[in-house]
Amino acid sequence: MGHHPVEDSNNSNNRPFEEIINARLSRRRMLTGTASAATVSVLGAFGLAACGGSRSSNSGSAGTPADTGGLTVAPNKLGFRAVPTSLEDRVIVPEGYRADVLYAKGDPLISGLAPFRNDGTDVDYDNRSGDEHDGMHFFGLNSNGQYDATVSDRGILVLNHENLEDTTLHETTTAKQDAIDASDAATLKKIVDREMGGHGVSCVEVRKTDGKWSVVLDSPYNRRLTIFTEMDMKGPVAGADFVRTRLSPDGSKRFGTMNNCANGYTPWGTYLAAEENWYAYFATLETAELDALSDKEKAWVARYGIGAAWAYRQWDLVSGDQYARFDISAMGASATDDFRNEANAHGYITEVDPFRPAQKPRVRTAFGRFSHEGAWVAPVKAGQPVVIYSGDDSRREYMYKYVSAVAWDPADANAGLVAGDKYLDEGTLYVAVFNEDGSGSWKALSIDNPELAGTQTYQLDDTTSLDFDFQNQAEVLASARLAADVLGATPMDRPEWAAVNPLNGDVYLTLTNGNASNRPADQLDGANPRAINANGHIIRWKEDNANHAATAFEWDIFLFGASADASTDFNVSGLTADNEFSSPDGLFIDPRGVLWIQTDDGSSGIRSTTNNQMLVAIPGTVGDGESVTVTTSDSSDQASTPTFVGQSAEAVQLKRFLVGPRGCEITGITMTADARSLFINVQHPGEGGSAAEFNRDVSTWPATSGDATAVGEADNRPRSATIVIYREDGGEIAI
Ligand code: FEO
Ligand code: CA
Ligand code: CA
Repeated sequence: MGHHPVEDSNNSNNRPFEEIINARLSRRRMLTGTASAATVSVLGAFGLAACGGSRSSNSGSAGTPADTGGLTVAPNKLGFRAVPTSLEDRVIVPEGYRADVLYAKGDPLISGLAPFRNDGTDVDYDNRSGDEHDGMHFFGLNSNGQYDATVSDRGILVLNHENLEDTTLHETTTAKQDAIDASDAATLKKIVDREMGGHGVSCVEVRKTDGKWSVVLDSPYNRRLTIFTEMDMKGPVAGADFVRTRLSPDGSKRFGTMNNCANGYTPWGTYLAAEENWYAYFATLETAELDALSDKEKAWVARYGIGAAWAYRQWDLVSGDQYARFDISAMGASATDDFRNEANAHGYITEVDPFRPAQKPRVRTAFGRFSHEGAWVAPVKAGQPVVIYSGDDSRREYMYKYVSAVAWDPADANAGLVAGDKYLDEGTLYVAVFNEDGSGSWKALSIDNPELAGTQTYQLDDTTSLDFDFQNQAEVLASARLAADVLGATPMDRPEWAAVNPLNGDVYLTLTNGNASNRPADQLDGANPRAINANGHIIRWKEDNANHAATAFEWDIFLFGASADASTDFNVSGLTADNEFSSPDGLFIDPRGVLWIQTDDGSSGIRSTTNNQMLVAIPGTVGDGESVTVTTSDSSDQASTPTFVGQSAEAVQLKRFLVGPRGCEITGITMTADARSLFINVQHPGEGGSAAEFNRDVSTWPATSGDATAVGEADNRPRSATIVIYREDGGEIAI
């Protein structure tokens, strides 16, 4: 999201790229020689040497696209005209396309519930759409009620509700404070229930009838998960002393999931909801309370920013344990008498089975605790482990992957949470180190890793060192950031979404942006080569032998965000008016190998010239570009940093496909198997508007007609929504 402070607690000095340029021994540079020869020699020599012989999906010799089962795999051409930048308050799509609003904030999931009222009086959010739609997946649903990825006209759409647009949610923007001031407990509870219910996840059955998608009201699959929903804790952290609370004295359960940003989905038909900015929902501890903590607990609070409080909403002022848990003070005689451990149970991935609504979600702790943006499962192969990529979206944070202990068995394809128990509770978490020569390695966050043994030190500030040790695997996982610090992981410019190219296994990761404090000119490296980096970039890598469980990889930078009119050593990818972008966030490579980029560009990007947008490209492959030096200035210092960049924006045919309404972020993306329906989310239109106008001075989207390309009526409070995009002629999207 673009409208919150970004957690910035990494005080470690992990700066592995400080060697001077002359020390670089790049295998790639030796192979490629000059930039102009790079394309040819990389596809030949480097491709064979380091890429396991996998081919580029769009090399010039690829020829005509393969047409497999009605789907064009590896197309070599995009088939639409780029849309221009826009500041209009509506969705813009290419000529020949339509966009319909499918599921907007406040829309009911059951009949008999009043439609969204547009006046902030709605309640019953456990039966209507939550706020701030984000990560999303379409699960095909067959006539037996089972997951079938090939079904393209009926499915369960599962999506996250990341946060609240507080300005538009209630009757008035002062409603909660008024209730607190008046000691009006009943009104305050109603407001807090709306806020806690506005978070979480929606499971929504959707059907296409006569070419048009709609929500199936009263479907048995319709379900809301909110901050009240009971879940089972699973994996190494379940039952640990440090997750026991008054509501979970044995550490076996947790209530709710919050700040669910991006997502993932498994080959066994379940949904993975990440928790991103969970640490900010708790009341800040007083100094005396902080002083009473152990050094390890102090390191956790500091390193995770717990109690940063910018999303603290005074929920603990309502009476009852479900609300009291947002005050993590040690008030009782022991940990099971209060909620001092409540924050330790958050920051994991939640697994949901959309097909078995009666089953409680399971909290998967083996992926570690951090600000998970999402959880992207690499394509599985029988007999090989399940591998899941997950970035930690805060400034100077790291990229992780999880490798299951058990190898994939295709017989588990419909096993739901039972398969989750098998593949997600036992495995190894790794963190990425990006080396200056274009190589990289994965280091294990394992209690058996000798690098994690003994006393460790977290430097709280200039004068305070906190000493601690890792006692067991549960502590390593709950302290993932601290363990990754010890392992020398590479601090990145805010890891957002990842995506794996199904055609060649390349892994892509958006690095949305940086700022002067986390990326000053003297702390650059090849993987994060621009000072401040207000426009972000997209890095990618190929695992050794195209094996996702490998511990070594080769990387380059796919694209750099920039204004089209920036100098060529900053606008490194050669962006033009048809594809300039800033702050990449959402990312998706569809089954055909077409890559989609969604932006969450704040005030420091190019937002003054366009609303947030979505672009499409046909990506090449790692190593298909050249060695470059990028130049940036943070006004005090000029920096020139060598790195590796992929082909130009023109060569990958990068084109703007969509622009959203005013104040929004475009996020969340999923496509039907026939590539003829594309679902995306428009999050927080109207952001930045005035409270007095309920943000209507910025946006009144969406229109009540349901046409996403229309401007809304003047009285509409703007609201987040899922939209569905399709071609008027019924053809495959984007090609
Ligand atoms: Fe919720 Fe990292 O965006
Ligand atoms: Ca975002
Ligand atoms: Ca995001």
